[in-house]
Amino acid sequence: MSDLITVVGAGSRTAAALIPMILEETDYRVRLLSTREVFTHDPRVTAIRLDPTDRQAVKRAILDDIPAVIINTAATTNVDRCETDRSTCWSVNVDLVEHLARMCRVVDAHLVHMSTDYVFDGTKGPYSELDAPKPISYYGKSKLAAENAALGAGIQATVVRTNVLYGPSQEHPDFVAWILESIDARVPVKVVTDQYSNPTYIDDVAEAILRLVRRRRTGIYHVGGADYLSRYEFALRIAEVFKVPTTSLEPVLTDDLAQPARRPLRGGLITLKAEADLGMKFRGVQAGLASLRHSLYAKLQHPTQRRSLLP
Ligand SMILES: NC(=O)c1ccc[n+]([C@@H]2O[C@H](COP(=O)([O-])OP(=O)(O)OC[C@H]3O[C@@H](n4cnc5c(N)ncnc54)[C@H](OP(=O)(O)O)[C@@H]3O)[C@@H](O)[C@H]2O)c1
Repeated sequence: MSDLITVVGAGSRTAAALIPMILEETDYRVRLLSTREVFTHDPRVTAIRLDPTDRQAVKRAILDDIPAVIINTAATTNVDRCETDRSTCWSVNVDLVEHLARMCRVVDAHLVHMSTDYVFDGTKGPYSELDAPKPISYYGKSKLAAENAALGAGIQATVVRTNVLYGPSQEHPDFVAWILESIDARVPVKVVTDQYSNPTYIDDVAEAILRLVRRRRTGIYHVGGADYLSRYEFALRIAEVFKVPTTSLEPVLTDDLAQPARRPLRGGLITLKAEADLGMKFRGVQAGLASLRHSLYAKLQHPTQRRSLLP
């Protein structure tokens, strides 16, 4: 049995939380596949720079050192860009997953693939694993097609759906960073009051993935934070925890933004299955934002001790 986990899309915000956790909490070696140059001095880590949509390159990387587990965090996650650049979206979000599933069949590896609450239409969220998906955007359609490719490939496959990730990675500005930077720059920021979700602290999804790997769980798992709230309410909580003024936050409706892609309004995920099966409680926004603040302040105070596995 191989002792290797291959992480695809190793430059993603999820991978930035997951990789140090794998190295600290397990004995697995880790192989990173990324479009970026990744420098590491850790003898348990190897990195290969490649385009994950290059099938031959991915095949070579997998056959060269056969993994027990492939964790795919690569995706085009810009929902509006997926609507307008459909071929890139499909190639990264679907074709890549089909190829990884095929490779998992060849080398008998467990595929863990990440997905989203955008596979639902947002008419009656939060959703459980038993609810029927009905995507309303091209991004959502691509993510559902990828889920089906992974789950229907006749391999050990796990789909981890999550929503509104936030965390300390400075390379990946997220909703929290956008709100804080806009407030700091005193730029008015339009925030929707009618999109609901349960924002997820990045370490919680990373820990859930790790437990799914260790317990060899397959099928669909929903991972999300403990609080269900609108983006505007989330922005107010961010301002409260970081003690910044809310004057630049401007409440708007989704329709006012006229974005290229439709958004599920009442999205979000019911996480009872993951909590029961993995023995986890996911952070609500107060605890998640407090963890984030702690992590950001620690980085400010000890900039040289920042983990620098990834560029
Ligand atoms: N962020 C969220 O709020 C959220 C919510 C729900 C679900 N998800 C799902 O969770 C997973 C991880 O999301 P994330 O936010 O951690 O991802 P992310 O930070 O947006 O990173 C995705 C990675 O995918 C690779 N990638 C993106 N576009 C590419 C392209 N055109 N060609 C080749 N590679 C490309 C890149 O990997 P390299 O940098 O290694 O090249 C990129 O860093 C995704 O499946 C996403 O759909 C995310």
